[in-house]
Amino acid sequence: MIALGCDHGGFGLKQAVMMYLDEKNIEYKDYGTYNEDSCDYPVYGETVAKAIVNGECEKGILICGTGIGISIAANKVKGIRAALCHDVFTAQMARQHNNAQILAMGGRVLDVATALEIVDTFLSTEFEGGRHARRVDGIMEIENH
Ligand code: RB5
Repeated sequence: MIALGCDHGGFGLKQAVMMYLDEKNIEYKDYGTYNEDSCDYPVYGETVAKAIVNGECEKGILICGTGIGISIAANKVKGIRAALCHDVFTAQMARQHNNAQILAMGGRVLDVATALEIVDTFLSTEFEGGRHARRVDGIMEIENH
C-alpha cells in the first residue's frame, strides 16, 4: 500500500500519480489534501510519514510545490527517510543506496511524464544493502544522539 500526500502546490501532480497507480493496479491511500485550496504541507508530510512508521503503508509519495518543505517535514518523524527526487537517477539512488521509504517531488518543478518515470523507478527499485546498510544505520542512529 502506498501512502500519498500533498499540499495545494502538489495537488495536480498527485492526481496524475493516482491515475498512474490506478492504471498499474497499485493500491494506495490518499491522505490529502483533496483540493487546491491553500494549506500547510507539514500536516501531510507528518501524516504520510506516520502511516509508514505505524505499518499502515510500506512506501509513500509526498508532493508540494518544490518537494522541499514536505520532505523536511516527513524527515522529522522518527524512522523516516524521505528523499526529494528530481529525476530517475536520484529516485534509483534513493532506493538502492538510501532505502528511502518516501519519495518527495515538486509539483511546480517536474513535468508529469518525468514525475511518473520517477514514481515507477522509486517503486520498482530495491535497496542494495551491504555497505549502504551500514550508512543508513548511521543515519538512523542520529535519532538516538
Ligand atoms: C506553498 O506555496 C509552497 O511553499 C509549498 O508547496 C512548498 O513548495 C514548500 O516547500
